[in-house]
Amino acid sequence: MDKILVHGGRRLRGSVRISGSKNSALPILAATLLTKEPCTITRVPDLSDIHYMLTILGELGCEVERASGMVQIRAEHVSTAAPYDIVRKMRASVCVLGPLLGRELEATVSLPGGCVIGDRPIDLHLRGFEALGATVRVAGGNVKVLAPKLRGARISLRSNFGSTVLGTGNVMMAAVLAEGETVIDGAAEEPEVVDLANFLNAMGAKIEGAGSRTITIQGVKELHGANHEVIPDRIEAGTFLVAGAISGDEVALQRIQPEHLRTVTEPLAEAGFEILSNGSQLTIRPGAQRRPLKISTMPYPGFPTDMQAQMCALLASTGGISVVTENVFPNRFMHVAELKRMGADIALQGPTAVITGVPKLSAAPVMASDLRASAALVLAGLQAEGVTEVNRVYHIDRGYESIDEKLNALGAQIERVKA
Ligand code: EPU
Repeated sequence: MDKILVHGGRRLRGSVRISGSKNSALPILAATLLTKEPCTITRVPDLSDIHYMLTILGELGCEVERASGMVQIRAEHVSTAAPYDIVRKMRASVCVLGPLLGRELEATVSLPGGCVIGDRPIDLHLRGFEALGATVRVAGGNVKVLAPKLRGARISLRSNFGSTVLGTGNVMMAAVLAEGETVIDGAAEEPEVVDLANFLNAMGAKIEGAGSRTITIQGVKELHGANHEVIPDRIEAGTFLVAGAISGDEVALQRIQPEHLRTVTEPLAEAGFEILSNGSQLTIRPGAQRRPLKISTMPYPGFPTDMQAQMCALLASTGGISVVTENVFPNRFMHVAELKRMGADIALQGPTAVITGVPKLSAAPVMASDLRASAALVLAGLQAEGVTEVNRVYHIDRGYESIDEKLNALGAQIERVKA
């Protein structure tokens, strides 16, 4: 298993090009199942999660061609059951359910198991399919949804944790070919949902309101092929902003959408960093004084759960007491024990981490537990004294395109050691 060695103490300076969004690209690739015609998706990041999705689409019968950031998919004939051995590797595989149900009125995938960041049920996705007229059966570890026909309906996707991002996408993808009007209340407002709706509309769907709590869909008879460029990855961008905050003299992010990052730039400014926005570029510089923060993760437009671990890495060495509350996945704190092994002073009280900033972290061998936790450990390594060894880096390759090369181009010293 590969590991990453981070030599601490290097200053970062320069600019980095942000890749296309993983969490946008995954459902968009699944949405190509909705038409027999070819679709071309560009700015698709080169990540293992994307590879899994393309493998699933290939197994379902799609013709898939890939060249650098471009993917061409033609789903002329499709089967309706996604194979377990690939589905089990990636929870986002569930987003083939919606388009298969929409097109073929039937879909089977294995039920996603628990995940290190929490329970991760799909009850809201299934509730949405049922409202459209589908029957849901769970047997042998698989979930099967089938319907004689789909009819538009009013559906609420609200939960105790806000809404559901992939659930909103899944229901939207099933509803575009349903008869009549569907209204989704309590829809997720994330930019990735808007990106998916834009792609579906480019395919001939009639979706309004994506990006707000209420999405209205007028069903159409069929969709056609379309081309689409995936939006920039706001979480990769946020991670590089935090890298700049931790070790940067001046770090610029290129090819981003600054408004998607406000939920991260606002707390960073409050923590004392100088942030300059110029078109599709954002620059972060150290300010006069670093300050501790109080943050709570929330669905968009709140502070993203996918940035919580990285922010903990920054606050671990920020003087004063910071308080970080995780509201979306209340158990998503696997990074805390590892940060403590590097000298961080963090006390967990239920879904809240109380972080007392220490002057310096020290290097240690640490274990990555999930994608964002592994990013946080690399960020901690940038500022630690000595060489931090991050094990199980396959987690980081699921969601960051060449993170080691990009950080090295900014002046970091990171080695990837092949096992
Ligand atoms: N939830 C339910 N029932 C459901 C679905 C969700 O109770 O049917 C709960 C979840 O347990 C959680 C909350 O609702 O407490 C939000 O979960 P959501 O469904 O929004 O998560 P997701 O769509 O499965 C996406 C991202 C995650 C990101 C979350 C929240 C993708 C592929 N994944 O997951 O990204 O953390 O939204 O923003 O888009 C990551 O990139 O590292 C990652 C985990």
